Amino acid sequence: MSATLKPKILFIGFGHLAKSLISKRLLNHANIHALNSKGLIKNINLKKKISRFNNDYNYIFLLIRPNTFISFGSQFQKYLSKNTCVISCIAGVKLSTIEKTLKTKKVVRIMPNVMASNAKSHTHIYMKNKNLFDSKLKKTLSSFGTTINVRNEDQINFATSVFGSGPAFIAYLVNIFVKASKKLSEPYNMNEKNIIELFKNVLENNSSSKMLDSFVSSISSKKGTTQAGVNYLMSQKIDKIIYTTLYKAYKRAKEIDSEQKKTKT
Ligand SMILES: NC(=O)c1ccc[n+]([C@@H]2O[C@H](COP(=O)([O-])OP(=O)(O)OC[C@H]3O[C@@H](n4cnc5c(N)ncnc54)[C@H](OP(=O)(O)O)[C@@H]3O)[C@@H](O)[C@H]2O)c1
Repeated sequence: MSATLKPKILFIGFGHLAKSLISKRLLNHANIHALNSKGLIKNINLKKKISRFNNDYNYIFLLIRPNTFISFGSQFQKYLSKNTCVISCIAGVKLSTIEKTLKTKKVVRIMPNVMASNAKSHTHIYMKNKNLFDSKLKKTLSSFGTTINVRNEDQINFATSVFGSGPAFIAYLVNIFVKASKKLSEPYNMNEKNIIELFKNVLENNSSSKMLDSFVSSISSKKGTTQAGVNYLMSQKIDKIIYTTLYKAYKRAKEIDSEQKKTKT
């Protein structure tokens, strides 16, 4: 690939995650094509359909659901050339499975999240061959936000739970707090925006687990209102509930690859 040429990238699948990866920064740096379930390819930079494709992609991003890859994975071989590097964003499907299905050794697994839309993804990256992580790929993945290289493939499953599914768990919890606050203050109409800002403000002032612990202690006075609420949270084992939530997502990520093997045997 010439140093002056923009890399040519094919997104296989253009759903929620794929759309959040598209930014001005990415489009300035790369030419993006996207394939949908009907086999149609669109040039995302030029916003137009492509009638014929050349398999000269530098990178192919797998942005389809695991079951789509399980059922149709081998059909995507035709989009690869010997120079193409495959970047899989698919949860659970192992690097070795992708290598076998697509008949290539040039595979990188990444776990970005939808926060990429404002360059705030914490993208975890795993590959066997470190040479695949060249400056062009690094620049491409940096357009999503922060990048974190991991040494062990299982760390991608942890990242899938915490950073891939995590934004949904956080949104769910915040929304429970918003709805409970509004219910408690009925018939007065408590302002939702103020409650959500409260979350932001607490986090703005506390950037570590230790600071959050001290923050809780500093507000909780003996027999006070905060202690009454915190004691209840503790008695309901909220720490166990949150741990189990993350564990279930991690376990699910690990199951996906073995399901693929069962359907093939
Ligand atoms: N969403 C997240 O926050 C997130 C985070 C980390 C990782 N992931 C991973 O990213 C992947 C995609 O997730 P998503 O949430 O973006 O899913 P999604 O919104 O359901 O998008 C899947 C896309 O795949 C396309 N598709 C289906 N069959 C296809 C085929 N045979 N050929 C080409 N395209 C096909 C669909 O196209 P049509 O629109 O034409 O049906 C759809 O646009 C999953 O493997 C997931 O594990 C997601």
